[in-house]
Amino acid sequence: MVGKKLLKRVTSPRQLTGEVAAPGDKSISHRAIILSSLALGRSRIANLSPGRDCLSTIRCLKKLGVGFASEVDETSVLLIQGVGNNGLVEAQDVLNAGNSATTMRLLAGVLATQPFLSILTGDGSLRSRPMKRLIEPLRLMGAEIHGRDDDSFAPLVIKGGRVHGMTYSLPVPSAQLKSAVLLAGLFAEGNTIVEQPQPCRDHTERLLRQMGAEVESANTHIFLAPLTAPLAAVDLCIPGDISSAACWLVGGAIHPNARIRITNCGINPTRTGIIDALVDMGAKLEVKNQRLDSNEAVADLCIESSQLRAIEIGGEMVPRLIDEIPLLAVAACVAKGNTVIRGAGELRIKESDRIAATVRELRRLGARVEELPDGMVIYGGKFLLGTEVRTHSDHRLAMTLAIAGLVAKGDTTIHNAQVAEISYPAFWTELERLARY
Ligand code: S3P
Repeated sequence: MVGKKLLKRVTSPRQLTGEVAAPGDKSISHRAIILSSLALGRSRIANLSPGRDCLSTIRCLKKLGVGFASEVDETSVLLIQGVGNNGLVEAQDVLNAGNSATTMRLLAGVLATQPFLSILTGDGSLRSRPMKRLIEPLRLMGAEIHGRDDDSFAPLVIKGGRVHGMTYSLPVPSAQLKSAVLLAGLFAEGNTIVEQPQPCRDHTERLLRQMGAEVESANTHIFLAPLTAPLAAVDLCIPGDISSAACWLVGGAIHPNARIRITNCGINPTRTGIIDALVDMGAKLEVKNQRLDSNEAVADLCIESSQLRAIEIGGEMVPRLIDEIPLLAVAACVAKGNTVIRGAGELRIKESDRIAATVRELRRLGARVEELPDGMVIYGGKFLLGTEVRTHSDHRLAMTLAIAGLVAKGDTTIHNAQVAEISYPAFWTELERLARY
């Protein structure tokens, strides 16, 4: 559960301006915590995601015997004492992944290979998200893993042990499933090959390579050899999260008097669909100062008020902006023309049903949006009118509705606004800092 209930009121500011450093990337942070826990020796992880989801990963790994410490006076620097290939121990209690599917699915991959019993659970939202798609491939590798309701949902019970590598075609382009299979493959007998229907975020592959594992990727194909030596502990600086930065990219593009610079933002090509989509829509967006940090591309992003036009989104683009679609729908509300988003059925099984929730809340704000089974049609060029809206206990919805509030006439009142803490605890203070009244 996320902290005390918070109600936030957003009013369109006169100006939206300033510089903002996006928080550490949530996806990369989870992987850095898990892989450093399995490495031999001490890792130093700077700019870790401050969100609650990554705290869930840390909490679970502590119970499995991993040592964590914060650097003095530097709360975003985490020191991890990795335990090596055989150092995890059976937890004395159930492992609680909170709201975080990445925690649950990636840890399940690791725990399937460990010679002890683990029980993984989560909050109400996570316990209603599909786990058969995780259980099936791990079982094919020889793991003993069970879930509630005929293996459909968490809690998951895992009696870990020896597993073997396999060739596996992912049924959906899910980085969480891909990563679970690869993590199990690290400790398997024989090689693991994963085929993805479309490329999806590749942070696991990049980090594994950096830590000395034998991983090769070509297009949609990934080859992994089991570890012959423990992963090497490495010091990392996590790039800013483009999924959080996307709030400011969309806010800056749609507000009539805006100029925002986002520093140190990850621009891994498997994640930059939001940049491509906004540029296609006519956004004045510049990518500056490109560099490589911890084997990930990083840059500063500059956005200013833009006249947007509608686009069509589907196919290979979808996994590259899956978490940004609700925000993109807000951009589409003010764009000229009708935006069509298809092929995004996966959105229905995120922290909320993000198709239904986005359509419902944007309609409350006066938008004309049609719900499709796998996306939505947004009829652009409408003025939004502030009103009371709901987050559906979903962090991305909370931030999306705040960004809509930046251009709505009157007050937008957001209930349960504290859920933003899942990925971006500083979101509300950053919003206040950038907005001038
Ligand atoms: C994530 C993968 C995506 C994404 C989620 C984070 C990851 O989910 O939506 O927010 O860190 O691997 P899927 O793997 O279910 O597509």
